[in-house]
Amino acid sequence: MSEQQLEKTARYVDLKEVSIDGDDVLIVGGGGREHAIIWKLRQSKRVGNIYGAPGNSGMNIIPTGIGATDIDKIVEYVAANPNIKYTVVAPDDPLSLGLVDKLAARGFRAFGPTRAAAKLEWSKAYAKDVMRRYGIPTAEYATFTEIEQAKDYCKTAKYPLVIKADGLALGKGVIICNDKSEAYVALNDIMEGKKFGAAGNEVVIEQFLKGYEVSLLTFTDGKSFALMPTSCDHKRALDGDEGLNTGGMGAFSPCDKFSAELLKTTVEAIVKPTISAMQKEGAPFKGVLYFGLMVTDDGVKVLEYNARFGDPETQSVLPLLKSDLYEIMNAVTDGTLGELNIEWSDLKSINVVLASGGYPLSYKKGCEIFGLDKVDGDVKVFFAGVKDGENGLVTSGGRVLCVQAMAEDFAQARKKVYDNIKKITFDNCYYRKDIGSKL
Ligand code: AMP
Ligand code: GLY
Repeated sequence: MSEQQLEKTARYVDLKEVSIDGDDVLIVGGGGREHAIIWKLRQSKRVGNIYGAPGNSGMNIIPTGIGATDIDKIVEYVAANPNIKYTVVAPDDPLSLGLVDKLAARGFRAFGPTRAAAKLEWSKAYAKDVMRRYGIPTAEYATFTEIEQAKDYCKTAKYPLVIKADGLALGKGVIICNDKSEAYVALNDIMEGKKFGAAGNEVVIEQFLKGYEVSLLTFTDGKSFALMPTSCDHKRALDGDEGLNTGGMGAFSPCDKFSAELLKTTVEAIVKPTISAMQKEGAPFKGVLYFGLMVTDDGVKVLEYNARFGDPETQSVLPLLKSDLYEIMNAVTDGTLGELNIEWSDLKSINVVLASGGYPLSYKKGCEIFGLDKVDGDVKVFFAGVKDGENGLVTSGGRVLCVQAMAEDFAQARKKVYDNIKKITFDNCYYRKDIGSKL
């Protein structure tokens, strides 16, 4: 390690926590999800120092100063630091850019799917096509690259319907349309106005599904899989699921409404067929495969696939993991997941996001965060939009941090979370008061 790195290590890492013999690990990404992954990896005796590309100031990691989409620089950094034995790629963008492929091509171990397997997330048209070809239940749909043909289809379609940009659009590329004129506006915005850039070169138009949503995250090595406890995200900004869509304002796990019986049929009809479909596609999926499900009167259907851990679901789910996350990740890389016995807690887990007032539109930054030292020892704070200020952490993004707690039942877990949230303050702090109130 260079002297400069040692200095950084001394500043950012509590050396007592670090296992001297452990592997150094690089995490790509810098939000609450990544912080939860790091927190869990730190519990492994096999993990040494943790580096972040870019990470954030609340994570207690060694910053590399490299952004999550600077994939060539990330590969060079790993090449220049042979102490880094493993790279965890958490966000969708670097996966879609092929970071895992580039690392593998140089002989470096990494967690996450290849670009070809991650296509299940970065092209909704491809995902729908896979579902159709392999008989995986999903909403009826059609895809278009020409706006006039899309408009023709909308003339005679049944409403409401859902129009989706094909590519990655920060979770915002989905528009629900109640009639033809709304559909035309959406098509103009996406295909001509390029509201979501090149992501809108193709659109998926699909049937609107009624029901409730469940997130089912799985680890898979391309052959075997392990289910994580189900979870539920809260995407809208305001209480009662009102207001604009956000990156997620909180989550809970498990989703008890989703019965063991439903889970069993979902595994048979959706999870297993998807994993075997990707083998047949010549792109076995290794990493976290996230099934965004809608539970309808007509059975469980896939709304979307994500090729990664969800945010903020991960901040509720990973605290329930009793086993060693680093061991699981390595088994995914090595194709030996089937040999592991992964254990989960039976507790109920909730996390609530503290955001900058105004998010997801404009908001103030640079506000000092107070009261972090008052938080109970068994309650976790995962940081996202924060940076170092003169006297400690200050806000630097829309979603600033999330507070997570677990307990025997949801009522106690909710009380713990909301009691502790009251201890944390910053200017214009905003959070939803109803996370986990409708289970
Ligand atoms: P997606 O990115 O495809 O998961 O869509 C984002 C959100 O839009 C989902 O979490 C749902 O709330 C909603 N959504 C997407 N597709 C549909 C659909 N076919 N019917 C009803 N709601 C949908
Ligand atoms: N929570 C939804 C997502 O991570 O895309």
